[in-house]
Amino acid sequence: MDKMKQNLDILIAEKDIKKRVVELGKTISADYAGREILAIGILKGAWVFTADLVREINVPVACDFIGVSSYGDSAVSSERVKLVSDIRIPVNGKDVLLIDDIIDTGFSIKFVKEYIESKNPASIKLCVLLDKPERRKADIHADYTGFTIPDRFVVGYGLDYAERYRNLPYIAAIK
Ligand code: IMP
Ligand code: MG
Repeated sequence: MDKMKQNLDILIAEKDIKKRVVELGKTISADYAGREILAIGILKGAWVFTADLVREINVPVACDFIGVSSYGDSAVSSERVKLVSDIRIPVNGKDVLLIDDIIDTGFSIKFVKEYIESKNPASIKLCVLLDKPERRKADIHADYTGFTIPDRFVVGYGLDYAERYRNLPYIAAIK
């Protein structure tokens, strides 16, 4: 663990993530008062955030996941996104909350949003833990954002570099 930490700059501490997730849960619960949410986490990066966020939401929540992948294992986002595992709960007529780890170029979340929209939900909103606005290429914005961060490659709290670091409880940039 210590050896691994030497290459990392902690950008967002565990306690700050926890605090922000509680705030997001409160805001979302108020916005959806009297309704039911179908939360759809985007795999794999959003798995940790989704698990924490839904536990801070106090309206009824159903959970599903969708898997997408941009081609390759590199730190560079790709415009070409593919569906690797589909949702199982029908979205027709539901109030969908899409949850992702980060909006970088925006291509992957735009792909997922359009895919879900084609299945006629009653509404669709986006919640992302992190936003790197400097990198945006696709025309897409989040309705709920945890933190806006500078253009650095980050890992932890679900985000990986070549499948490592997803289990870190904080967000760190690789040095
Ligand atoms: P997009 O560029 O917005 O399409 O981002 C695609 C995906 O790339 C995100 O959902 C993340 O899984 C991953 N990604 C983008 N930026 C980072 C980063 O800084 N660290 C780790 N993964 C990232
Ligand atoms: Mg992702």
